[in-house]
Parts: sequence; C-alpha cells; structure tokens
Amino acid sequence: MNFTNRDVVSIKDFSKQDLEKVFSIAGGFAKNGYDRKLLKGKRVGLLFYEPSTRTRMSFDTAAQTIGADTIWFAGPEGTSVMKGETLKDTIETVANYVDAIILRHPFDGSARWAAEITTRRTRRGAPKVPIISGGDGKNEHPTQTMLDLYSMLITQGRIESLNVALIGDLKYGRTVHSLSYALSMYNARLSFVAPDMLQIPSHITSFLDRCGIKHSEHSRIEDVIADADIVYMTRIQKERFPDENEYNKVKGLYRISKSMLSAAKPTMRLMHPLPRVDEITLDADDDPRAYYFQQAGNGVPIRAALLALVMGACE
Ligand code: CP
Repeated sequence: MNFTNRDVVSIKDFSKQDLEKVFSIAGGFAKNGYDRKLLKGKRVGLLFYEPSTRTRMSFDTAAQTIGADTIWFAGPEGTSVMKGETLKDTIETVANYVDAIILRHPFDGSARWAAEITTRRTRRGAPKVPIISGGDGKNEHPTQTMLDLYSMLITQGRIESLNVALIGDLKYGRTVHSLSYALSMYNARLSFVAPDMLQIPSHITSFLDRCGIKHSEHSRIEDVIADADIVYMTRIQKERFPDENEYNKVKGLYRISKSMLSAAKPTMRLMHPLPRVDEITLDADDDPRAYYFQQAGNGVPIRAALLALVMGACE
C-alpha cells in the first residue's frame, strides 16, 4: 500500500509487506548513510502531551538527519492546552504549520481522532497532514513496534516463528499491545508473564486466537526464559494505575539480573522499550544479550524511513 500521507495510528493498519518496506529503507540508511536533503523544505511537528525521551528525540533526530525542520512542545505546560484548548483545535492549528505531526497523548484513541481531524481538513481544500502516533494512552505505540521488529530482524536474522516472552505491565503497556498484534503476522509463539492484575487484555488474546497464534500466560520469568529467542521486559507503569495502592502491590515484582540470564540461550536478546526503573538490574547491561540501548538506537533509521515514506520522499 502507498505510504504517502498515510496516518500511523495502529500497527494493525500495516501489512508484512508494508513493514518490510520500512525495514528495507531503514537498513539502507543504517548501511549507506542518510540523504540529508531528502526532506529539505519540509517541517515536522512533535506534539508530546506526555513525557518522552526516546520517541521524541529519535523522531526529532530522524527528521533533521534527512533534512526536515522540526517544531515541538514537550508537555502541555507553556502551551494553550493550559488555557483549555482542545486536542482538535491544537491539531487544526499546528496542521497549518507542518507537513506531518508526531503525537503522543495520554488518551486511548487520540491518534485516530487526530488523523480524522487532518483528514477532514482536506475537505476544505487543505493538504493532508499525516498523523504518526508516538503512543496513545494504554492503547498502542506502533512506531516502537516497528523498531522492535527491526531489532529482532537484525539480531535473529528473521522475525518469523520466534519465541517471544513479554514480561511486566501487559495490561497498560501500549508497546506490548502493538507488538503482540504485529507478531501475529509472523507466526510467533508468545509467552505473557505478569501478575494476574496486569496480564495481557482478553481482547488481545482473542485477536491472537483468531489469527491462530500460540500463546500462554505465566507468573514466573523462570518458566519462560530458557526457550525465549526474545525476552521483552517492560516497566510497571505507576502513572497508568488508577489507584496507587494497587501499584504498590506489584511494583518490583519482576527483575531480570545477569545471573538469571545464565538460563537463557546465547542467541537470546533482552529487549526493553525503556525507560527502565529497576526491572533489569544494572549488572545485566554488559551481558552480550542485553540489547535495549541498541534497540533504542534503531529508532532513528526506522523513524527516518517512516517519515520519508509518509512525506512522499521514498517509494
Ligand atoms: N519507548 C518509549 O516510548 O520511550 P519514551 O517514553 O522515552 O519515548
């Protein structure tokens, strides 16, 4: 499917062929370097209503590396959101200034709504401004999944038929939601490790069942680590809990240390979307299987490829 002016709001909107195109362009950038004039004259707006280090900075780096200008806000403080401006009015306004918008917002569905707003503008004769989600609430984080899959491809030589163990906050974790949807296209075997109250939502396991994907639920890391090709650790997200007492019951429950990695395959890669709090101990960082910082680095070629595609600079 053509990428030009395409919104990126759910990984479910992308086929394997689409993803392979992103990986191929990203791989070309990583191998041959970036064309620094590819998006010359274009401008990208980064609207981050929630904190971010990797998503915002890697999109900003990616855009500038291929020649685009960027404008942004990091948190609604200092913007007219503090005066009560709605998401609709902010998107309507910023769409006049930029050629693409990266949006991170705390509400599920906000990226889809923003995409509808910039599509409706086209009926008034305005150019389409694609919306790329940088994470919407506890729903999805599609570009994180693109870089996660790319990281699997680099480290395992394939994405097809991997054993992937996803650990931690699977209920509120938008990265694991998008990743689970995506891995359903690659015949993965998924092991979900979480306390009962944070297990993977049933709408996702139902989706996996409909796709014929094998999956299982566990409470102990030790039950899955030996067979995993990828261990995908996540943070228990304090900010998503409606009740802090509930968070206190599960915080610090899962922790991977260097000694635990002795049970894993030598080819296993330990990934994490980051930020980490205490769920991977610092002594694991130097293990050759620890891949989370390289994984974050892969965000730049992947996001540059995606920007080039949606802004019509690559086919
Ligand atoms: N992985 C990720 O989304 O990190 P940030 O919250 O720092 O952007």
